[in-house]
Amino acid sequence: MGRQRKRIVAGDGLSHPRTDDKPPVPHRKEKKKKTDLGKVFINISIVLCIFSLIWFFYALYMRSSLAKRVVTLHTSPRVLDANSTSAEVSPERFWGSFRPQVYFGMKTRSPTSVVTGLMWFRQFSDMDVNLRHTCEQSDRLQGYGWLMHDAVSFGVQEIRDSDFTLTTEFVKRKGGEHGGDWTWRITAKQHSSAAHAPVISLMFYVATDTQGALQAHVEERNRLSTVTGTSEELGHFKVTFRKPTAGDAASAKYAGYNYLQTVTPGLEKLTDIVKNSMNRRFVFNPPSGEKRPYIAVDTYKPPHQHHQQKPADNRKESDFVVHQVTVQTPFQIEVLFESGSFHDRPDQLAGSVLTEELEKRKVAFDQKFENTFGLQAKGFSQSQVKFSKAALSNMLGGMGYFYGQSIVQSVYNEYPLLYPEGPLFTAVPSRSFFPRGFLWDEGFHQLLLSKWDPQVTREAVAHWLDLINVEGWIPREQILGDEARSKVPSEFVVQRNENANPPTLFLALQELVEQLAAQPNAPSTQGTLPFLRRLYPRLQTWFEWYNTTQVGPLPNSYRWRGRDKDTNVFLNPKTLTSGLDDYPRASHPSADERHVDLRCWMAQASGIMARVAQLLGEPHQEYERTHQMLSDNQLLAELHWSEQLRAFSDYGNHTHAVALLREKVYVPPGQPRHQFPVARLVRSVGSGRNAPKLQFVNALGYVSLFPFLLHILTPDSPKLEHILRDMRDPDRLWTPYGLRSLSRTDPIYMERNTEHDAPYWRGAIWININYLAVRALHHYGNLEGPYQEHAAALYQELRTNLVNNVYRQYMDTGYVWEQYNDGTGRGQGSHPFTGWSALTVLMMAEQY
Ligand SMILES: *[C@@H]1O[C@H](CO)[C@@H](O)[C@H](O)[C@H]1NC(C)=O
Ligand SMILES: *[C@@H]1O[C@H](CO)[C@@H](O)[C@H](O)[C@H]1NC(C)=O
Ligand SMILES: *[C@@H]1O[C@H](CO)[C@@H](O)[C@H](O)[C@H]1NC(C)=O
Repeated sequence: MGRQRKRIVAGDGLSHPRTDDKPPVPHRKEKKKKTDLGKVFINISIVLCIFSLIWFFYALYMRSSLAKRVVTLHTSPRVLDANSTSAEVSPERFWGSFRPQVYFGMKTRSPTSVVTGLMWFRQFSDMDVNLRHTCEQSDRLQGYGWLMHDAVSFGVQEIRDSDFTLTTEFVKRKGGEHGGDWTWRITAKQHSSAAHAPVISLMFYVATDTQGALQAHVEERNRLSTVTGTSEELGHFKVTFRKPTAGDAASAKYAGYNYLQTVTPGLEKLTDIVKNSMNRRFVFNPPSGEKRPYIAVDTYKPPHQHHQQKPADNRKESDFVVHQVTVQTPFQIEVLFESGSFHDRPDQLAGSVLTEELEKRKVAFDQKFENTFGLQAKGFSQSQVKFSKAALSNMLGGMGYFYGQSIVQSVYNEYPLLYPEGPLFTAVPSRSFFPRGFLWDEGFHQLLLSKWDPQVTREAVAHWLDLINVEGWIPREQILGDEARSKVPSEFVVQRNENANPPTLFLALQELVEQLAAQPNAPSTQGTLPFLRRLYPRLQTWFEWYNTTQVGPLPNSYRWRGRDKDTNVFLNPKTLTSGLDDYPRASHPSADERHVDLRCWMAQASGIMARVAQLLGEPHQEYERTHQMLSDNQLLAELHWSEQLRAFSDYGNHTHAVALLREKVYVPPGQPRHQFPVARLVRSVGSGRNAPKLQFVNALGYVSLFPFLLHILTPDSPKLEHILRDMRDPDRLWTPYGLRSLSRTDPIYMERNTEHDAPYWRGAIWININYLAVRALHHYGNLEGPYQEHAAALYQELRTNLVNNVYRQYMDTGYVWEQYNDGTGRGQGSHPFTGWSALTVLMMAEQY
């Protein structure tokens, strides 16, 4: 642009004669003509320049506005008022066990809550200090989890450590304006196998999170008896640490006391701070017994040299107070939280008052559980009922309240951006391994929780939909805040806005709508209609986002975006977005693919959208039309029925002829081999007749079942016969423990995806899909049709197999698991996994 202008100016100057006094006439004429031409040039250039400038700034503007879209929230009013979880609006649900990532801890449902928690370790063991705090599989506990939890007011948890068991209980009490009081009771008992009664240190802590202040009150010696504090949300409060007793409230017990009062740059640092403050200089000296040195918190020494400097990111330091009590088992200890605005407290919630209160809530819990699920009436044993209470309770006790920002990126962003700050109230798949929100897990979680407490489901769904952006996208894994981020490898942190995840929240909405239809006047369904009304604009955008960004190459086909691009290293490039990670799809990802599971999710979602729209008196015809189209069995078969496989299938650029082979590294003769890179496993692909081409993928497994799983097939569909046959075939999907994810006959069955990636959805039994299968068998078993009887029989068999195995594994191992081995039934993967594996409760109750 600049250069062009200069040249024109130079040309103009040249046309002026410098010295001639009398220029000849023709010359003049010529000169005039030249000047005119010059002017035209100038004008055109100016116009061009202005146009280019406008274009340039418009492009710049578009670019920055497109870049910002990914972090722009949806413009409709939020489903939840900003104060919806506050102590004024929701006092009963303000405090809770909303820190699923720690073994025992409580906080309020507010952005910068004061947090309380428990750490512990065993004294005088041979090993180093085994400090327990955040739920870690590497702690190798024999089992832990909530045995009872009512979502609101109380909970009972059992934690089985090496040779002792801790029972952690809490009870809340209403009063005042700040969410009331609560009391904890920890009971420690040695196992009968223990040679000596172990000495255990419990460390109770209170920490603020950037706002509020704490004050420690120390009694004689080192005993921290109370912590007082204030915060915006809690006003004044007092935490009292009672002395341990031998179990019955009367008899006191010898104990060693220590405390730590310091500050922390963030909640993710609490464990380190405690570890770094440990000292062996203390003496445990019970009246009857030997004197022994023990380990306890002492003055805190920051781990790094430059502790005088402020933390690099200038985070505000928060108060952190720890009370350590060291006692020999058996013992019991209570911690009281009392709210300053609770003036007319009748008595302290401690000792026998607490015992009575706990008993009352346990009875109420048992009664509500039987009323809701009716397992005793169905003839389940005491032990089976106890197991299912534990599965439900650990899902409820695994509900977390998180606050913070996701890290996101769109194609218009060179670097990841911070998503707007927000809260998320959600269940988590696993308190140890996945202690955060996952979009597609949550739909399954809420299927169970909606039966127990629809209010929980409405609030969780509302929180998720309030995180939607203006495009209609919700980040599928929610890693909010530093504490959550400290648990996730960095490559998984950034969420991309072209990536979907199955819209399972529609399953939960369907359940709420059905409850409303069945009991329009019940107190539990009263909140549903206003909730749906506020939710609706967001649901519309959410649906539209799927219906536009995930479309496939043909009408009525859909395709998951975000598959692995590197076809060189993966045996089969993963499709994390589908939720089924490494389940085999087309070997060569391309825009020609169509995915049968996504199409079925869309059929399901459009059906629920139509129903919700109708309920609200909104136009529903377009959703209904889409639902009809996607439910059309003929169209479905045209796009996805593989005659060769006799099953539904994905379609794409595919070959079966793939294998991982050791790369050849050329080492010239005479050169030392170790100077050359280690040979990797890389994928080799067939050629000629075996080269990838457009065809059905022909993998038999969970994906093939989706038209059945989501009730898309009509009861008279002959395809059902094939599906029921494949399911019941032990060489394909059937096992005595549930349906395996991929047929044993598939070439990729139980194959690794790379040297380092073990098979995940390539054979193992997953409970969420098995739940859908049992539910579908129940559905078709109750509809008239040629396959009704077959479905009904399979229903009984599959349900029994699943329930028995999940229960047996729990009894054997102490845990509910992420997945189950298709050969042995053994639980495997992360644990405890009382996310969707807890749907076993609904199978026991036969509630679908
Ligand atoms: C909570 O917020 C809503 C909407 O902003 C408001 O109408 C209501 O009065 C507030 N409630 C309380 C108790 O502050
Ligand atoms: C979904 O997308 C299809 C086109 O791909 C369109 O015909 C249909 O109307 C859309 N459905 C809704 C409810 O918007
Ligand atoms: C399938 O993938 C192979 C390998 O990338 C490519 O060469 C071929 O053109 C693709 N075929 C189609 C139909 O896209």
